[in-house]
Amino acid sequence: MVVALSDSGFFVSVEGLDGCGKTTQVGLLAQSLAAAGKNVAVVRDPGSTALGERVRDLLLEPTTAPPISHWAETALFLASRVQLAEEVIRPALAQGGVVVSDRYLDSTLVYQGARGIPWEEILELHRLCGLTRLPDLTLVLDLPVELARARREAGGTPDRMEQEGSTYHEKVRAGYLKLAERFPERVLLVNAQLPVAELARECGELARERLNLERAI
Ligand code: TYD
Repeated sequence: MVVALSDSGFFVSVEGLDGCGKTTQVGLLAQSLAAAGKNVAVVRDPGSTALGERVRDLLLEPTTAPPISHWAETALFLASRVQLAEEVIRPALAQGGVVVSDRYLDSTLVYQGARGIPWEEILELHRLCGLTRLPDLTLVLDLPVELARARREAGGTPDRMEQEGSTYHEKVRAGYLKLAERFPERVLLVNAQLPVAELARECGELARERLNLERAI
């Protein structure tokens, strides 16, 4: 088993339903941490490596027939993440940098969990693959499913995951709420109904607070 080395970096992930405004907030959070003098890398999961971007295309293309098996889907998200952690996240953190990730392992817990894959098995797979370095802070941008759907519909063609119905997305949202209960130290819920600038201010404050706390230890 590969053991995570301790590092002096700061790792934040941003999570939420498709349509919650996550990608905008990731960009704004990275800008605000960079303005505070940090060396910031922004990544997206799945993606941000050559392999990960190819896996992302496989996972998100709108139609696949026959359907992707739930375990194959889980394994593909995991494969992309292993590559991302080894190629980008771990080296950045080892150099004392800040990494802001648009989604990370919690998306697998919540989205593949909503398919019926048990959390303990997902966590065990992460451990087996050496993914023991969890984010220092995870911000979940919480939004009711119907509002998220309305925001998505204003965007482009839905990807394979976005094509799932409301029942699935309700399970995803419930999964995020459960996540915040299960990992209260790491996972914080933020109200994604706030106006963009206000939400950005709140996310920035939470991240800077946690960063200073980490540095003080
Ligand atoms: P995202 O990057 O948020 O896509 P977009 O370009 O639409 O903002 O997320 C991709 C989709 O993949 C999203 O529906 C969530 C899903 N997903 C999982 O099901 N499991 C995972 O482990 C990850 C990282 C994402």
